[in-house]
Amino acid sequence: MELRSLGPGAADVTCVGFGGMPLSTSGRPDEADSVRVLHAALDAGMTLIDTANVYCMDDRDIGHNERLIARALREWSGDADGIVVATKGGMTRPAGRWERDARPESLEAACEASLAALGVEAIDLYQLHAPDPRVPLEDSVGALADLRTAGKIRAVGLSNVSVDEIQRASAIVPITSVQNRLSPFFREAIDGGVVGHTAAEGMGFLAYSPVGGGRLNRKLPDHPVVASIARDRGVSPHAVVLAWVMGLSPNVLVIPGARTIPHALDSIAAADLDLTPSETEAIEGAEFSVA
Ligand SMILES: NC(=O)c1ccc[n+]([C@@H]2O[C@H](COP(=O)([O-])OP(=O)(O)OC[C@H]3O[C@@H](n4cnc5c(N)ncnc54)[C@H](OP(=O)(O)O)[C@@H]3O)[C@@H](O)[C@H]2O)c1
Repeated sequence: MELRSLGPGAADVTCVGFGGMPLSTSGRPDEADSVRVLHAALDAGMTLIDTANVYCMDDRDIGHNERLIARALREWSGDADGIVVATKGGMTRPAGRWERDARPESLEAACEASLAALGVEAIDLYQLHAPDPRVPLEDSVGALADLRTAGKIRAVGLSNVSVDEIQRASAIVPITSVQNRLSPFFREAIDGGVVGHTAAEGMGFLAYSPVGGGRLNRKLPDHPVVASIARDRGVSPHAVVLAWVMGLSPNVLVIPGARTIPHALDSIAAADLDLTPSETEAIEGAEFSVA
């Protein structure tokens, strides 16, 4: 599978990574099935897993996805040292809600808990999940810089950020990657310049919810343009969309979620799909309703 740079200070990884969230949030499979899905993706050659401490049901369940990934890597027959695990801190799940808490002391405690949940001495890539409006960005990023200096994290990433926020964070610590939403349904990362900025700065861009997320991805088989390209090429509508997202810029990696082995393997197959310029333009010009 094609490798792409995750960004300065990180290893190259497969252009299709695994988004861990659906294995730990509402509707999650049982743990043994989840481990089988992760093993199938790893056996197929995927070398990047994206997770977060808050991929869980609520605050009593923090770290569920990280513990699951740690178990899957422990029980995997391959070389787990070659797998990059990217996690995040800066959010909480009170009563199942998603709330931000990127105070320095919270990030420090969350990082310690993630180290324990993942069972590692240092986290490959630690991402600020989202800026916290109650905390100056510089304070949150300063905490990540301190964690890096202490050797607890190897590289710093940002998520849900603007170009201005990337620039402010970069003045404090080298930023390896940025993770924002990007799919044909939601193109603000292109329109707002974040993909272009990260490409110019040599950072990786991790496209989250790349097939539209848990609800919108189900509309893809009925989308006239996507379905027609999928039929012509003999691939799934999801693979067409993933190939389109990866084609937007050489620094874009996708991290689709999957709760089944066929879905995980289908997404990995998208790495081998090159869309023609006319297929790319057709998707570019098509309407993708989020209703
Ligand atoms: N940084 C952030 O704030 C943030 C926010 C959201 C997500 N993320 C990250 O991005 C990852 C992906 O986002 P997401 O899970 O929201 O959305 P997504 O990857 O766009 O869609 C997820 C759902 O689409 C289905 N799917 C994916 N690939 C498929 C395929 N090839 N064929 C058929 N169905 C397919 C899966 O259904 P099944 O479950 O039925 O397999 C999966 O649950 C997350 O897991 C997480 O790691 C980050």
